[in-house]
Amino acid sequence: MVKHTAQREFEGWKEFCSRPLQERLPLFSRDGRIYDVLFSQQFNRPFLDFLYGLTNRIRRIAKSREGMIWLHKLHAHQRAMLYFVQPSTRTFLSFLNACHILGFHTSEIRDPQTSSEIKGESPEDSIRTFSSYVDLIIMRHPQEGFAEKTAWLLNDFSDRPVPVINAGSGRDQHPTQALLDVYTLQRSFEEIGGIDGKVIAMVGDLNRGRTVRSLSYLMKNYNGVKILYAAPPAFQIGEDIREFLQSHGIHYEEHDSLESVLPEADAIYMTRIQDEHDVKGESQSEYEAFSLGKEHLARMKPHAIIMHPLPRRGEIDVMVDKDPRAVYWRQERNGMWTRTALLAVIFGTDEKIEAEGDLFLS
Ligand code: CP
Repeated sequence: MVKHTAQREFEGWKEFCSRPLQERLPLFSRDGRIYDVLFSQQFNRPFLDFLYGLTNRIRRIAKSREGMIWLHKLHAHQRAMLYFVQPSTRTFLSFLNACHILGFHTSEIRDPQTSSEIKGESPEDSIRTFSSYVDLIIMRHPQEGFAEKTAWLLNDFSDRPVPVINAGSGRDQHPTQALLDVYTLQRSFEEIGGIDGKVIAMVGDLNRGRTVRSLSYLMKNYNGVKILYAAPPAFQIGEDIREFLQSHGIHYEEHDSLESVLPEADAIYMTRIQDEHDVKGESQSEYEAFSLGKEHLARMKPHAIIMHPLPRRGEIDVMVDKDPRAVYWRQERNGMWTRTALLAVIFGTDEKIEAEGDLFLS
């Protein structure tokens, strides 16, 4: 068991984090370019449109051997640290492979039992250590707000800032998941007017799932979107998200069954019951009622897509995978490409990809 010795709080952090988010955000950009990626609220529509255009361009360049080799040289002089001290399969692997596509050399810590945290070193001191060696830190951490604290610490307190990417922070946010989710929505709705005006159903454990929170924030960038939240009452979406939607004029409804949202939804975003947060097994009784099976497919719109951030358990029957509307495996692959584009934007390589990438497009 990792035991951290109590340390004094860094002077300035409490004051900084008590400010409204909009006042904190400028610290996390440089010269109008995103630097630390911490919250979905950092992304506006021009940024999203640009990122997704760049994602498509990188995918096309990467189709040829020559294009892949060219991409690989862009960051061959730089190093990235993946600090993932909460379990992860696809976020870790997609970031790792995104780094490798662009040539970053990578190091990782996935278990604090194997780092000097086991000797009592604080996570904050661990982060400062990483910044001694690398040009980028990508982190998943169980503590809400720790990614932001890390970015603040490196920007304001230390003399060696490096960009920090939040790859999932406690129950709070998973902003890069939201980026790939919206990319998947956009590509899926390309032929039917894009995301504007669409009805997105989010289903499952909405109160304890960070992906639906980050995705909800991103919906402010699209016109006329309606969100249907379908969850057991105890696991409905949090009040802070409802307040955010109201303040941005985003229409939403709360439902207590999966069946009631199927006919209206253009996208059904299923999520896993997060029973790791249970106190006494309270999730079990709710699990089956929020599971999608073959019997539900006929009640969906013909063009409606089924998404899931994964991992799944029983909330989508494996036989649903065969339905052409099931896009979650594609969604997962999209993560690697949107994250590759995001790294390029943070480091300004997007300009080179825009200027020289045509050489590799057939
Ligand atoms: N979607 C997601 O965050 O998956 P992992 O936990 O496997 O990274």
